[in-house]
Amino acid sequence: MEVALGCDHGGYALKEPIRQYLASKGISCRDVGTDSEDSVDYPVYGMKVAQLVSSGGCQRGILICGSGIGMSIVANRLAGVRAALCHDIYTARLSRQHNDANVLVLGARVIGPGLALEIVKTWFETGFEGGRHKRRIDLIDKLAGKGKPKA
Ligand code: RB5
Repeated sequence: MEVALGCDHGGYALKEPIRQYLASKGISCRDVGTDSEDSVDYPVYGMKVAQLVSSGGCQRGILICGSGIGMSIVANRLAGVRAALCHDIYTARLSRQHNDANVLVLGARVIGPGLALEIVKTWFETGFEGGRHKRRIDLIDKLAGKGKPKA
């Protein structure tokens, strides 16, 4: 599995610990930046990660901005991307079990690094339950007119 990892200046502080966590688990990571706390525009980095996931170039993505809201809005514009903004373990787990979320979004100004890493851990260790949830996620792209969802 390869994970696309991106942030803006508001999320930069969390990107390095997450990159290190992924490396410690042997999860390959494509870091698309940004690489400092200099002000940048979150849609640029959100779209880089969303495009990698939507195209199948990466199987998962992680996006971090200040609140997590901007990155969520951006990532969910692309077909096949199911981005989940999670600031607790429960929603991190449910985003995988019920929504098969393929992009995890975090707000670095909302939670600290300890909780963020627990959320990342939960998100990677939890599987999709399928069944009725598969029918429901298939309906998302169908009803939104985005065509056939990616397998
Ligand atoms: C940047 O100041 C901030 O607006 C951004 O990180 C994010 O929170 C946007 O939703």
